[in-house]
Amino acid sequence: MNRSFGHSMWGSAVPLLLIMSTAVVALQHLNPAVLRDSNYDHQEAQEKTFCTWRCMIFTLQWPAAFCQSLDNVSLCHIPKNVTSWTIHGLWPLHTETCCNCWTMFPSDVQKLEAELNDNWPSLLRTRSSYKFWQMEWSKHGACAACVDGINSPHKYFQLSLQLRQQYDLHKLLEDAGITPSCDRRYKVADVQQVLDPHLGAKYEIQCVTDSKGRELWFQVKVSLSRNLMLGCSAGEEKEEEDHQEGAPPSPRHPCPPQTPFYYLPINPEHPERPCS
Ligand SMILES: *[C@@H]1O[C@H](CO)[C@@H](O)[C@H](O)[C@H]1NC(C)=O
Ligand SMILES: *[C@@H]1O[C@H](CO)[C@@H](O)[C@H](O)[C@H]1NC(C)=O
Repeated sequence: MNRSFGHSMWGSAVPLLLIMSTAVVALQHLNPAVLRDSNYDHQEAQEKTFCTWRCMIFTLQWPAAFCQSLDNVSLCHIPKNVTSWTIHGLWPLHTETCCNCWTMFPSDVQKLEAELNDNWPSLLRTRSSYKFWQMEWSKHGACAACVDGINSPHKYFQLSLQLRQQYDLHKLLEDAGITPSCDRRYKVADVQQVLDPHLGAKYEIQCVTDSKGRELWFQVKVSLSRNLMLGCSAGEEKEEEDHQEGAPPSPRHPCPPQTPFYYLPINPEHPERPCS
């Protein structure tokens, strides 16, 4: 009895195991998780070529100091409506150069043009604001465009304007008594005390040195992850800084912690001499 039971158990168990393992194989082919995995591999492979970046830098510049940074200050132009920090760019940090594969047209920014003119103007006489936007798009925006929410010129510029609103440095500083001045100077620590709670742990305060050897507050670079969280750490990735065409600016550098710097007033009438 035992023997025959044992025999019959194995007799039926072997085919059953075969059926089960076949079923498992079949299930694997249909399993949505597995399908998602192979999709994911595909996506990942695509990202390896087109979308390698994890962090981006949102850069705001202070127009008064931008003008002083130019070799030829008479090339500077500050539009009348510009009274505050302007956008320099929104730059994904990546190791390869951008694909230059997505041309931008005036119609792409038509609806945003007024806002862009006030918040993202060209500060060079020799370059129209549209040319500036076009350059930023082809150099940086087209690379950013592999991410949802930034995947068109319109969305890229719209997001940049939103970030400009969100990080209203002028207001934050003003509320803390840090205002543009021809006489008063500020220390990095003063500014950090105000901005740290709003800009996270990884942002940079940049200065330029003017012809008199003074430190001028020039830029703020805010580091963001793809999902716009503050404080992205880029590790090995290299940043691509813009060089302003035709007018090489003096080297920008982190404001030295021990040297107080000027936060000059914006003077659209005399951008080359804001304090005269
Ligand atoms: C500076 O720019 C002005 C205005 O474009 C130009 O007239 C002048 O020749 C430039 N000076 C130098 C030294 O390049
Ligand atoms: C300046 O701003 C005002 C109000 O926002 C706007 O009506 C005007 O068109 C702007 N001027 C220029 C030259 O952009």
